[in-house]
Amino acid sequence: MNEQVLNATARAMVADGRGLLAADESTGTIEKRFKTIGVENSEANRRAYRDMLFTTPGFEQHTSGVILFEETLFQSGLDGTPFPKLLESKGVIPGIKVDKGTKPLAGAPNEVITEGLDGLRDRLAKYKEAGARFAKWRAVITIGDGIPSDYCIHTNAHALARYAALCQEADIVPIVEPEVLMDADNTLEVCEAVTNRTLAAVFDELGRQRVLLEGMVLKPNMVVSGKKCPVQADIRTVATATLRTLKRHVPAAVPGIAFLSGGQSDLDATAHLDAMNRMGPHPWKLTFSYGRALQAAALKAWGGANVEAGKKAHLHRSKMNGLAALGQWDAKLEKAA
Ligand code: 13P
Repeated sequence: MNEQVLNATARAMVADGRGLLAADESTGTIEKRFKTIGVENSEANRRAYRDMLFTTPGFEQHTSGVILFEETLFQSGLDGTPFPKLLESKGVIPGIKVDKGTKPLAGAPNEVITEGLDGLRDRLAKYKEAGARFAKWRAVITIGDGIPSDYCIHTNAHALARYAALCQEADIVPIVEPEVLMDADNTLEVCEAVTNRTLAAVFDELGRQRVLLEGMVLKPNMVVSGKKCPVQADIRTVATATLRTLKRHVPAAVPGIAFLSGGQSDLDATAHLDAMNRMGPHPWKLTFSYGRALQAAALKAWGGANVEAGKKAHLHRSKMNGLAALGQWDAKLEKAA
């Protein structure tokens, strides 16, 4: 483990005004996205779509890194350049999703565990050779009747830490992503309590498994009202509760926190990040690692063929979130565009 390399990469991932583009949808997930625009889920279309995103002129000013799905890491862009090379040439760090998705957790109805640890050391060596300098593993915590259980939180935290330790052994920065889902009807207070339990367990396991905090990036959910909750907390309340929760659990040694969007609207995801950065200074950088909130508009504008419109929409959301990462976003900029 090279501590300097890990720390330098982690800091570059959360550099001022820049964040991560999560474009690591599995083949199944991208199928769901393509269905909304009536595009066939073929290898050629996945490649063309990602090429559109990665060749957007200027997106690199706001994007420090891109999380790729395994297929994309080994694909080339439309001009024949391997995607990792294409990204590095723009100063964008290539990363790779390494988990194998979720499966039902034995003996825990309605709860899931993330798989993918077996053989991970060998896969990391292969990914590194292909150009990946950071990785992602997503653990999923579900809120519901009597859940999450401590069993689910702890087994997922344990797996996250095992993954993170293996990454660091290979000088790959782990994005540690414990996602508390926002799909239920729970209040913000319940989300806060569950996120507190989750982050406590995650940092406990990271410590036990000797993970270098200076060489990782945390990718948490924000503390929000569940999507089906009749009362939706406002921007300020979400920002305040999220910061309160993070300050209780995330050591200052962690260089940065890059939020997932988790199904928030594009504008909410941007506004929340902006509000939190305006409440700074904070011990860590706060930026984005959005999938849907960065891609939804671009996907729709692209529609399978309209490359220039897709790039324009992508650049706009990258720019808005880059400003939010500095606490300099303004809702007026959305209308102007
Ligand atoms: P969303 O921003 O769409 O939640 O995706 C981010 C991600 O990478 C989830 O693992």
